[in-house]
Amino acid sequence: MVELRDVHMQFEEKKVLEGVSLDVEPQERLVIMGQSGSGKSTILRLILGILRPDAGAIFFKRFEINRLQRRKLQQVRQHIGMVYQYSALLSSLTVHENVALPLQELTDKSRSEIDRIVDEKLELVGMQDAKDLLPDELSGGMRKRVALARALVLEPELILLDEPSAGLDPVIASVVDELIISLTEKSKVTSITVTHEMESAFRIATRMAMLYEGKIIEEGEPEEFKQSKNPVVGQFLSGSTEGPILEGSLDAIRKK
Ligand SMILES: Nc1ncnc2c1ncn2[C@@H]1O[C@H](COP(=O)(O)OP(=O)(O)O)[C@@H](O)[C@H]1O
Ligand SMILES: [Mg+2]
Repeated sequence: MVELRDVHMQFEEKKVLEGVSLDVEPQERLVIMGQSGSGKSTILRLILGILRPDAGAIFFKRFEINRLQRRKLQQVRQHIGMVYQYSALLSSLTVHENVALPLQELTDKSRSEIDRIVDEKLELVGMQDAKDLLPDELSGGMRKRVALARALVLEPELILLDEPSAGLDPVIASVVDELIISLTEKSKVTSITVTHEMESAFRIATRMAMLYEGKIIEEGEPEEFKQSKNPVVGQFLSGSTEGPILEGSLDAIRKK
């Protein structure tokens, strides 16, 4: 479904990805974990074709994303749903209007057909009663559910989720994670989630990958991950201050 082949990406002097390769099979839920600033959102933007890599290739199905012309890229992108970290709903539009937007802009479906699809997606995420509210009137968890409905509205084959449970309280975070699982299973959609939150990662993932210093340093099923001998993975999973992550800089913090 998705392949990253030896992808390199840097911003000015800063090297963010230094040879990332990944394969995502249909109907998998891949979770990419990594520290803040490790390049997780960058990977999602590369898959969407918002960024172009400095080297390497990115495939979505048979399309090489980084080589498509603008028009074709826009077509291909309709098969990819995106849930942004802060939901990114338009504040002046109601819930219904937000979810309807991709259908209005990218299809020639009739008003009544759009209304029917929007109602169906809002029902899937349990937000049908909130359809006339504005984003500001919703809690963080509700906004996330609306963002999920919007990402699914074009029936994508792939959905990308950027830190879906960030900023949510733990119970709501679990609810959102469960919703992600049930929606992706029901719609047989493949998903790539990036997160630095371990509990959420283990709930969602059928397979995991860990991004560290520009590379995927470990990859496997959640059970294999728990048993990883890699000290970086071990430290990340335990949240310990002992280990290779931040080595050196912690001493400086403690001295202050
Ligand atoms: N458009 C950009 N221009 C310059 N630097 C960027 C840009 N996007 C991301 N970066 C930098 O690249 C690094 C990785 O960013 P990002 O992918 O957002 O990390 P993550 O999502 O893992 O927190 C960060 O150091 C960030 O500051
Ligand atoms: Mg990010």
